[in-house]
Amino acid sequence: MTHQFKFDVIIIGSGAAGLSAALHLPGSLKIAVLAKTPGEQHSSYWAQGGISAVLEPDDSVDQHAQDTIEAGAGLCDEAVVRFCATAGRENIEWLAQLGMPFSRDRQEISDSGFHLTREGGHSRRRVVHAADATGKALQQTLQAHVLERDNIRIFNQHVAIDLIHRRKKCVGLYALNRHDQHVDLFRAHKIVLATGGAAKVYLYTSNPDGSTGDGIAMAWRAGCRVANMEFIQFHPTCLYHPDAKSFLITEAIRGEGGRLLLPDGHRFMKDFDSRAELAPRDIVARAIDHEMKRLGIDCVFLDISHKSRAFIKSHFPTIYQRCRDFDIDITRQPIPVVPAAHYTCGGVMVDINGHTNLENLYAVGEVAYSGLHGANRMASNSLLECLVFSQAAARKIAEEIDTSRKLPVLERWDESQVTDSDEDIVVAHNWDELRRFMWDYVGIVRTNKRLERALHRTELLKSEINEYYGNYKVSADLLELRNLVVVAELIIRSALARKESRGLHFTLDYPETRDAFRVPTILDPDQHQKSPAKLATI
Ligand code: FAD
Ligand code: SIN
Repeated sequence: MTHQFKFDVIIIGSGAAGLSAALHLPGSLKIAVLAKTPGEQHSSYWAQGGISAVLEPDDSVDQHAQDTIEAGAGLCDEAVVRFCATAGRENIEWLAQLGMPFSRDRQEISDSGFHLTREGGHSRRRVVHAADATGKALQQTLQAHVLERDNIRIFNQHVAIDLIHRRKKCVGLYALNRHDQHVDLFRAHKIVLATGGAAKVYLYTSNPDGSTGDGIAMAWRAGCRVANMEFIQFHPTCLYHPDAKSFLITEAIRGEGGRLLLPDGHRFMKDFDSRAELAPRDIVARAIDHEMKRLGIDCVFLDISHKSRAFIKSHFPTIYQRCRDFDIDITRQPIPVVPAAHYTCGGVMVDINGHTNLENLYAVGEVAYSGLHGANRMASNSLLECLVFSQAAARKIAEEIDTSRKLPVLERWDESQVTDSDEDIVVAHNWDELRRFMWDYVGIVRTNKRLERALHRTELLKSEINEYYGNYKVSADLLELRNLVVVAELIIRSALARKESRGLHFTLDYPETRDAFRVPTILDPDQHQKSPAKLATI
């Protein structure tokens, strides 16, 4: 049976962004948090390295901002960068008060009392963490507090399908209940997208299965602008093992002295950048890709075995154990690693309060394009962005919401014209095909020809998927595929529009960076595609 629900605020997503938004909203509001799956199927849970914040006297907001802007290769919005860097301390203190078990500095070097690690692009140690399982500790902390709040109801088997808007205002959404396979109707005064990124559009990714860009696709279909979708970050070091499913090896290993080696033991990063292993991720991932292709090798190696066994086991217990499961003892031998799709720098365009161009609709966390990351995200700035923008959006919503306003009556989901699918193989096949050509043609190194090939294929897939969607009852796999193909097209169209190389977007046809393109790529569903060369920075 289908249900109808009404809330003051609906948050789609229960990762770091969604849960912190829920906790920052006033307890007087009736809030729903929707998630596709319970538990661990979101990136936040798997975060390793930590959260960047200015906490020490030898660091400053200026320095954090400068590092972020440098990593972002000229495309960061400076006001947004400063906003996030300034709000870092307050958010870490908030988490500490909630009981987040951050690793402490046992040697009492740091002023803050936290152990601070270092990662690529950071000129200082400024990453707070909970050993190498920061995301798990963060999620457990946030969840415990959300569960205590009577005003928050969790729906953790509901896949949002589409946003509903009337007269340019977002008023609700449809969501598939995975328990009974019915589509429920949700109405609300304010809706927050916190649906995470889209790295699952690539064959190899560090992300869990749910990172299918649903929020970006839903917002696009509802008329929201998206920006900078060409900037997909490939993390340089995921475990290379047939059974490992792209398990991440944190950049903090390099921050603590880990060296990248070729099979003959040569430490190659020094040949590419004076910062060697601590160069920003785009540079390290491209260098690894280059060496793998040049030498025809399947992986490179990350070696931390020169550090003491006790150090390695206390700083990286999760990675130590996971590698042990595959018979790799990281205290004695190097780790085989390869790059994999990791982070979506672009997304739904928002202002400094996380508000989109559709009234009542907000987007926070990885789903959003806030201007913080520019052409390449600096390590550990993502969780920071989740926290800062959730807080900002919650404040704005609390200020503006008028719960006495009547919500429009909306139609229930209509299934009268569709039947049960008898050909699920189409969905499975298209999932595989899409992810493979995105990896092969729209990966770390691009060309016009490969991008055009990929675009052609997305167009074919899109019409096949839309036909399928129009004829059969929806399933979670079909909904995700429908979103993935939209996101793939947005990535390819943005990449084709950027006729230069910058940050994470590298194309052999335009290997240079060009001043005319020092602007975000904005795609507007109403006005078609705008050329980045003609756009002013937002
Ligand atoms: P997510 O945590 O991905 O949560 C998305 C939520 O949306 C989920 O609850 C999901 O179920 C829900 N959802 C999605 N679509 C729908 C739908 N259609 N209907 C209903 N619900 C939906 N960043 C750092 O800053 N520091 C790190 O150390 C770090 N390490 C990382 C390690 C790994 C392995 C990975 C994958 C990422 C890492 N990142 C790190 C990046 C960071 O973890 C993510 O960018 C961040 O957690 C995203 O949080 P989020 O809340 O926006 O999305
Ligand atoms: C990592 O720990 O290497 C991931 C950090 C990040 O993505 O910010």
